[in-house]
Amino acid sequence: MTEVGNDVAKAAELLSRGLLVAIPTETVYGLAANALNEPAVLRIFEVKARPRFDPLIVHGADQDRLSTYVKDFPNWASTLAARFWPGPLTLVLPKKDIIPDLVTSGLSTVAVRVPLSPLTHELLLQVDFPLAAPSANPFGYVSPTTPSHVLDQLGGHIPYILNGGECSVGIESTIVAEESGKIHVLRLGGVSVEEIEALVGPVTIGGIEGSAPGTLKHHYATRTPLTLGPIDPLTVDTQRTGILSFQKRYPEIPLEHQVVLSPEGDLRKASSYLFAAMRHLDALGLRKILAEPFP
Ligand code: TXA
Ligand code: MG
Repeated sequence: MTEVGNDVAKAAELLSRGLLVAIPTETVYGLAANALNEPAVLRIFEVKARPRFDPLIVHGADQDRLSTYVKDFPNWASTLAARFWPGPLTLVLPKKDIIPDLVTSGLSTVAVRVPLSPLTHELLLQVDFPLAAPSANPFGYVSPTTPSHVLDQLGGHIPYILNGGECSVGIESTIVAEESGKIHVLRLGGVSVEEIEALVGPVTIGGIEGSAPGTLKHHYATRTPLTLGPIDPLTVDTQRTGILSFQKRYPEIPLEHQVVLSPEGDLRKASSYLFAAMRHLDALGLRKILAEPFP
């Protein structure tokens, strides 16, 4: 049985016993375990059916606490942390030995982040360990942005979901790393590349080979085949196609088969509904989904 509630002390107690708890963050819900407890971390990989070569993000209450787990925060990292933490930014930094290799898939670096969610912040203050947490979805599926998304897919496999309501950002954290003196954005997310470049200068997008499996093409895949491209209602099989549009509504296509992310063209708002919209269209059992590229 999976319980949904807002009892932080209960979540802390379960995690201390090596069990898993789904936690709210501003980006997406995470599937959390004590990052220092290997059997607990192993259970994350089992429940998600996640390959072991895909490393986990370690969450802490603040930069000071995370300093216990990384060798140091170079200037670029401290600058970004000061501006964006708590918030949708993950930094990849050289790890200390205390972080199990299982968490980092054997890499010498660990990805760390301070999430912005009052309940999860309180939880991170109550426990004396950091939380390893990937997004709380089965591997390869769309990330969850509400407790019911988590319940739908992981219900019965975890004891508790900490209910922090809907995620405000709704897409994952931006992941930033350094290699040979260059800053790389390994995964695009809640903090824009422009916001990062304003503080640390030009960055490379993607980059460090093989280091970011989270950027796999199929990372956010729906079960219904989804194609990205311009929407031309004349060529669409209107009865069997789901439409994911940025601003425009298509009168030729049944209303119940389309989602308009933001009629007023607000990119942040559109992002925050994106994963929920993908799930919604996926559940309609249509032949395919057509998604319009948005800015
Ligand atoms: O917004 C988020 O970041 C959410 C919430 C729960 O915090 N978490 C999340 O975790 O998206 P996950 O496991 O779905 O994606 C983590 C990705 C990995 O797939 C990998 O690409 C990257 O983080 N990563 C983790 N450790 C890394 C490392 N040491 N070097 C490079 N990339 C790493
Ligand atoms: Mg994920």
